[in-house]
Amino acid sequence: MKTPALMPVIHPKKQKIDVKKFDTEIVITNAYLVYKDEELKEKALSEGIHKLINFDGPVMTDSGSFQLSVYGDVDISNKEVIEFQEAIKTDIGTSLDIPTAPYETIEKTKEDLKITLERAKEAVEYKEAKNMEMLLNSVVQGSTYPELRSYCADELSKLNADLYPIGAVVPLMENYKYRDLVDVVMSSVSHLPDSTPRHLMGAGHPMLFALAVAMGCDLFDSAAYILYAEDDRFLTTRGTYKLENLQEMPCSCKICNNYTPDDLRAMEKDERTKLIAEHNLNVSFAELRVVRQAIIDGDLMELVEERCRVHPMLLDACRQLDKYTDDLELYDPRIKKSAFFYTGPESLRRPEVTRHLNKLKNMDKKRDLVILPKSRKPYSKYINKSDFGDFYTYGSETDLDLDNTDFMVLDVPFCLIPLDIDEVYPLSQNESPKINDIDSIEFIENFISEFIEYYDQTLISSKIIDLLGIGLYNIHPDSDNVKFIKDDERKVKAIADYQFGNGVGEFIFEGNLKIEKSKNTGKIRHIYSDGTLIANMRASDSFFVLAKEGAKRLHRFKAFPENRVVVNKDSEPFAREGKSVFSKFVLDCDTNIRSKDEVLIVNEDDELLAFGKALLNHNEIMDFNTGQAIKTRKGFG
Ligand code: GUN
Ligand code: ZN
Repeated sequence: MKTPALMPVIHPKKQKIDVKKFDTEIVITNAYLVYKDEELKEKALSEGIHKLINFDGPVMTDSGSFQLSVYGDVDISNKEVIEFQEAIKTDIGTSLDIPTAPYETIEKTKEDLKITLERAKEAVEYKEAKNMEMLLNSVVQGSTYPELRSYCADELSKLNADLYPIGAVVPLMENYKYRDLVDVVMSSVSHLPDSTPRHLMGAGHPMLFALAVAMGCDLFDSAAYILYAEDDRFLTTRGTYKLENLQEMPCSCKICNNYTPDDLRAMEKDERTKLIAEHNLNVSFAELRVVRQAIIDGDLMELVEERCRVHPMLLDACRQLDKYTDDLELYDPRIKKSAFFYTGPESLRRPEVTRHLNKLKNMDKKRDLVILPKSRKPYSKYINKSDFGDFYTYGSETDLDLDNTDFMVLDVPFCLIPLDIDEVYPLSQNESPKINDIDSIEFIENFISEFIEYYDQTLISSKIIDLLGIGLYNIHPDSDNVKFIKDDERKVKAIADYQFGNGVGEFIFEGNLKIEKSKNTGKIRHIYSDGTLIANMRASDSFFVLAKEGAKRLHRFKAFPENRVVVNKDSEPFAREGKSVFSKFVLDCDTNIRSKDEVLIVNEDDELLAFGKALLNHNEIMDFNTGQAIKTRKGFG
């Protein structure tokens, strides 16, 4: 099944839309409604839920918790509803959680949560005792208290549930409390296992999908498609349109192409509802396709920033993500297919920027620092020495010791980019317009002031402020005077430090270096030390792919378990042969590993077996029990 996925809600009795003609791979229906209706109940028990709702694929059922939250009571016990769902052959069942409303008192929330947790545990134990085939949802509750959401997620993670929905968010969405939705979802997902799908319960509006997926949600359910249609409302990624206000159809789906708003207004209610519902499903599935493609392209955050501009409260939610940039950074692949596009001040809080600024704050600094104005990228090609006089902020203007100076370029969005590494992803592969918004300027100024302090330098030139204040401009290339920044040895060492850690460059590239370049592009390709290949520089992102000797040197230089993935005895022979490593064989790994990192593969005695590219981050590698973790490049035999 493709994820993120949308499960259309099927009404067991009054369903009029056949959802099979859309991208539907899985549906959700309500077991409690079936249970309460003698006729439906009998049919479901004898023929199964799939026959009852006429859907062959996976069926998820809800337990009646939602009815509980609306009517205050249901006449079924937790055990009974689990048993009933198994009896009607549900693929994924749900225990009877208590949806605690947003902004409920903390006392009541704690009380409800206690019952939700007891029932989740009871359900899992009952399922195991009865050897049930059905998968189980354990719903995260905790109202709008992030610490209770996290606590609930922690407790549920100890159970062996198959999916972790996030519940009681419908009132937040109905009331545009998207900022609180971000807190609720982030405090929940950051405490759930990575290998288990998360379902944002009741989220069926397509304008929310990108944001929810960026926060780590995999499943959505939509009753919205039919509920909105019954009210003559069209879902779109720009929000909701009422038929009475429409002069134009809102999209290019089949329905919108074949009918005009007047056609619809002239129709019988039932026929009209059906057509609007179809539009609503078309739009919802189309948006999920856009989201899935954005994940592949690596520009989901651009999509989130774009979608969140359709409503001020959504923009507020997008800004609230700032608080969680460290959580999001963990899941952000180190390298992506797409360039980084600035869409507004929110872009400065994206994981890529956070990651770069953290690296800068921890880098090995040289004695002096020169900050240069922004020019064309890659900067090192276009900046020339004669520009310094005007711009550097510390040190003697006349006899600058080039070897002991860090040269950095002022940049949007990355604040400062060391010239030596300005060709690596995404420092070179990004675009921003001339910046004139106060938020962005303040962000960059604040970072630079902090950074200058790190250099123990008291002098920050007012020039930097000026440079930002007036916007950033180009300086023209002067190819005669760029010796120091064309120092390839310095450059390859700096990139290795940026990629693998401080000091790595000096260590792996020691000896007599030969730096081979592409004849066509002039870009660095291969680095040899005393005649042995150490690393290749990948043309697309200027990061290194290690060769055998490079991997050995990295292994010698870094302490266990840095840059390493530790595999068990069973998988050792496979790794040595150069076969890929599966997550279930991994015993331990460096917490700094992110998807797309180059990593060393070792055994428990820290013997180097192989090296390769991580396909997942640390958390995922440790949590997943199926699938590949590392694509091995070479084994040491
Ligand atoms: N549907 C929408 N919200 C909820 C919830 O909190 N729990 C359950 N079980 N179903 C829901
Ligand atoms: Zn349409």
